[in-house]
Amino acid sequence: MSTNETPATPAASPASPKLYLISWGCQMNEYDSSKMADVLAQSHGYSRTQNPEEADLLLLNTCSVREKAQEKVFSELGRWKEWKAANPQRVIGVGGCVASQEGEALSARAGVVDMVFGPQTLHRLPELLEQTRRTQKPAVDVRFPEIEKFDHLPAPRAEGPTAFVSIMEGCSKYCSFCIVPYTRGPEVSRPLDDVLVECARLAEQGVREINLLGQNVNAYQGRMGETGEFCDLALLIHYVARIPGIDRIHYTTSHPAEFSEALIAAYAEEPKLASYLHLPVQSGSDRILAAMKRGYTRQQYLDKIARVRQVRPGLSISTDIIVGFPSESEDDFAATLDAVEQAGFDAAFSFLYSPRPGTPAANLRDNVPVELKERRLALLQARIKQRSDAFQQALVGSTQPVLVERVSRKNARQMAGRTPQNRTVNFDAPASLIGQFVDVEITEAMPNSLRGRMVRVS
Ligand code: SAH
Ligand code: F3S
Repeated sequence: MSTNETPATPAASPASPKLYLISWGCQMNEYDSSKMADVLAQSHGYSRTQNPEEADLLLLNTCSVREKAQEKVFSELGRWKEWKAANPQRVIGVGGCVASQEGEALSARAGVVDMVFGPQTLHRLPELLEQTRRTQKPAVDVRFPEIEKFDHLPAPRAEGPTAFVSIMEGCSKYCSFCIVPYTRGPEVSRPLDDVLVECARLAEQGVREINLLGQNVNAYQGRMGETGEFCDLALLIHYVARIPGIDRIHYTTSHPAEFSEALIAAYAEEPKLASYLHLPVQSGSDRILAAMKRGYTRQQYLDKIARVRQVRPGLSISTDIIVGFPSESEDDFAATLDAVEQAGFDAAFSFLYSPRPGTPAANLRDNVPVELKERRLALLQARIKQRSDAFQQALVGSTQPVLVERVSRKNARQMAGRTPQNRTVNFDAPASLIGQFVDVEITEAMPNSLRGRMVRVS
């Protein structure tokens, strides 16, 4: 890709103030973190450092979906307290989902926090920074101002041939176990034109693959100009596919209830749509699905999977599964294992249920012993691993179009990229091919990646 066309971010000079930023959690959080760094580079010339000792500003971008996130935040802040004591001019900020849950309480409890901001107010970081410096008091903004964030972010900056583009925020599904609707607010979509302009700008900087991002991305309803009409995810995919330079499209994460006929049809009609679908099922038991308030039955889910497989043979399908939801019985768990086989998942993220304060499920009686939950999770993960290995093995001998993304982590002479099924493959090639699609013959399946031999530049 041509890095010299990247829009100006103030260059890091030894004198520029330093930002130390750590984050954990989902892809949305990763995306938000990179935007925070961009906002502060533009407003105050901050450059990032990996060394907290030399930082002027320390930011913690948090996620509370599954973890005991509050505890993690407070233990991190305990360490940061010493750094601040060493240099009281240092500013400390906490953002993300824990911030939006805890708000003012966070700055009061921790005693060291100068700024608290939510996922929807990160664009206001420069103002919060000025405010806390002026008043010498914590500055807090954890509101959900409707999509204002995107209008205030710096121009998108490509960091390689693949890029994330956030197209909607929040979730209005209120699954009984999930904290996201409370911390990220209701679903709000960006207008279609804004999304397309961002994709086009990234394409001009050499981006070849776009991952459309949202907590509930197939609920996307983007306003189309002044027409009063709305664009859904399927139509958006068709538009993005028409942008010159964009040759592969992913989207994350979708909800089965809104996995529409139009989206299924997109797999038949749009070859640029990757052969990879992440569609969280959570459980294979109808009783548990109802208790989770997921809004679909096991059969409805499996029917959709069957239809999309019909139009896109070879599709890789991954999922999210929660093990040990309150009252989950042996039969419920067996139904989940069976659904894994029926759906033919070749990858999955599986988690032990973790009660999130403030969610309806947190009040349910839970009679399942933790050892039993852990045994079930281990069994499920072993099954998934078998399926994943078999899927990778089946790719051996085939030739796949691969986007060359970066130098391989293990071997500097090799390049790494991904197949249309979202599998990482390492192969010998010159770094000058980064940003191009090449055909790679898959020669070997490793535990978490593939090895291959480049056949030709496509
Ligand atoms: N749409 C979101 C899903 C939110 S959280 C996304 O972008 O990924 C991601 C996954 O975490 C969920 O699909 C679910 O499997 C898991 N999860 C959410 N709340 C949980 C909880 N309380 N306990 C365990 N796992 C949970
Ligand atoms: Fe959470 Fe359910 Fe939304 S899992 S993000 S409430 S779709």
